[in-house]
Amino acid sequence: MKTQVAIIGAGPAGLLLGHLLRAEGVDCVILERQSRAYIEGRIRAGVLETITTDLLHRLGIDAGLNAHGMMEEGFNLADSGRMIRIPITELTGQHVVVYGQTEVTRDLIDAAPERGLEIVFEAADVALHDIDGPPYVTYEKDGVQHQVYADFIAGCDGFHGPSRQAIPHNAIQEHQIIYPWGWLGILAEAPRSFHELIYSRHDRGFALLSTRSPTVQRIYVQCDPHDAIEAWPDHRIWQEMQARFAFPGWTLSEGPIFQKGIVGMRSYVCDPMQYGRLFIAGDAAHIVPPTGAKGLNLAVADVLVLSRALDAWYKKKDRSGLDCYSANVLPRIWKCERFSWFMTTMLHQNPADSSFERHMRLAELDTVVGSCAAATALAEIYVGLPLD
Ligand code: FAD
Ligand code: PHB
Repeated sequence: MKTQVAIIGAGPAGLLLGHLLRAEGVDCVILERQSRAYIEGRIRAGVLETITTDLLHRLGIDAGLNAHGMMEEGFNLADSGRMIRIPITELTGQHVVVYGQTEVTRDLIDAAPERGLEIVFEAADVALHDIDGPPYVTYEKDGVQHQVYADFIAGCDGFHGPSRQAIPHNAIQEHQIIYPWGWLGILAEAPRSFHELIYSRHDRGFALLSTRSPTVQRIYVQCDPHDAIEAWPDHRIWQEMQARFAFPGWTLSEGPIFQKGIVGMRSYVCDPMQYGRLFIAGDAAHIVPPTGAKGLNLAVADVLVLSRALDAWYKKKDRSGLDCYSANVLPRIWKCERFSWFMTTMLHQNPADSSFERHMRLAELDTVVGSCAAATALAEIYVGLPLD
């Protein structure tokens, strides 16, 4: 098979890049290791910045977003019984939308056939070849070996995928922190307990109250990343959540838990995000801890820049966008890395912290609470930095 751009991975980055390229008449194919059912069952992000919602509107893949997206004009930071509202719309004129990554992914997959976007699910042993010459990708499906010859490869295959690993080690610099905690996340059938998200700092550990719909709630608690999920029966989860969201005059609604999982946390950046004819985007190139909801939105920003660069190459033979892809996206990525690291370290309990460091975390929170300028700076990044 021959195509113009071979995309590896059908997460948000790969699917959106595929739709953007097809909209400009560029040929591409997406190779995905998992089945469609697996991808559509994967529970992840929830908060979408305007660049993400604008893109879904522009592509016309927005029926689900329009019907079920929930506009949020503020979020809350809580600390041992006090709740501090950050009025993002009042401070920035913008808002965010809560609409699940699972739903975004499903909408993008549903829209693929009518837009001529081919997705090969259950593509096993995907491997990249000749990434600095005319490249090709091999994979196996139903016992048959396939080759895809392409002008370019877009590695959108998440942190553990093969794309970044295909780049020679001496051609990149990697920057990383692994945090000593994880998040236990649940989906529960329950009414919304509060009309906005609450990020709660608590002596027992961080907790986050989010939502998916008026009847389904998404809640996270800080836990040991090595905990087995069996160590967290439902009654223990609710007990921890009730303790970490104990505010006077307010109660957390409970209901049947129908999904739960534990994720570890890291900050990671690969620099540069390209080598020869290979360009990596989204979690394949950088990871943020989820406190602050930047990962999916960063993946969207990458593919917007990459699709423009590919389009300029195909329409005008202008290589400058491709040559400068990493230099164009990395400064914004680093600002979001800083924000996610700051939100994470400010709000989580680290048993290894000294009493001095604990006071620093509290002073950071007090600074945001006590200064309109500091709250505005936080709100500006939360709603999403401009792309250009
Ligand atoms: P992925 O979604 O990881 O997609 C990569 C794809 O590549 C996958 O489908 C994978 O199966 C495929 N793949 C992997 N290996 C191969 C292979 N060998 N061959 C072929 N295909 C392969 N971000 C936000 O912006 N807002 C939030 O509110 C938010 N909340 C989060 C909450 C949690 C608990 C977690 C874990 C993450 C959260 N994130 C959030 C981050 C967000 O989910 C990720 O940043 C986002 O999924 C990145 O998209 P991606 O397409 O780059 O990578
Ligand atoms: C979510 O709803 O899954 C969510 C919300 C906010 C975050 C992270 C995740 O910061």
